[in-house]
Amino acid sequence: MSDITLNIDGREVKAKEGMTVLEAAKSADIHIPTLCHNEMLEPYGGCRLCTVEAETRGRTKLVAACLFPVEADLIVRTRSETVDKIRKLILEFLLAHAPDSEKMKELAKEYGADKDRFPKSSSFCILCGLCVRYCAEVKQKNVIAFVDHGAKREINFIPELAAQECWDCKECFPLCPTSYLQAAYHLTHALAFPTLKLETAAKA
Ligand code: SF4
Ligand code: FES
Repeated sequence: MSDITLNIDGREVKAKEGMTVLEAAKSADIHIPTLCHNEMLEPYGGCRLCTVEAETRGRTKLVAACLFPVEADLIVRTRSETVDKIRKLILEFLLAHAPDSEKMKELAKEYGADKDRFPKSSSFCILCGLCVRYCAEVKQKNVIAFVDHGAKREINFIPELAAQECWDCKECFPLCPTSYLQAAYHLTHALAFPTLKLETAAKA
């Protein structure tokens, strides 16, 4: 992997070919906010909070820093009026799901996002997919899955698998930027596990 020099926020940054803009920025202690990114997991590009301006060969576009690969002479702006406006809008939309999440509140303060801009959603899952992907990629258990579509989309535990796998794991809990994951687990536990225990007992 060869070395690449790019420019981030006016600073010359050295990166390796194949790195993302987010990784290059991090190596230079330049902060880009993220919600769906986790170094243990494959890049996902779901939340778009990491949007930055990338200028190459005289053309500027908005890209997700967690997905966009570095290239020689790339010019990246991690803060600009446009970038901040996009992040503010994304946060306002997500705050409709999770107005009480500490992480969301911190970000909202930084970008001046109004938690009441959009009507409150009944689900406080922000669909970052961290729980689903951690369970699939790291634990290889696939206990959590996305269900439903559009505004109703959220995550769910698969009760039969959760009953076997989750009780001594719960490693996904700290990854959730809202409290939805724990709530979903406890709901699954309350509704499904007693039945499963009864079924198991009946079969024995
Ligand atoms: S439950 Fe939490 S970690 Fe899982 S997708 Fe929703 S917000 Fe993300
Ligand atoms: S952190 Fe890049 S899209 Fe979510």
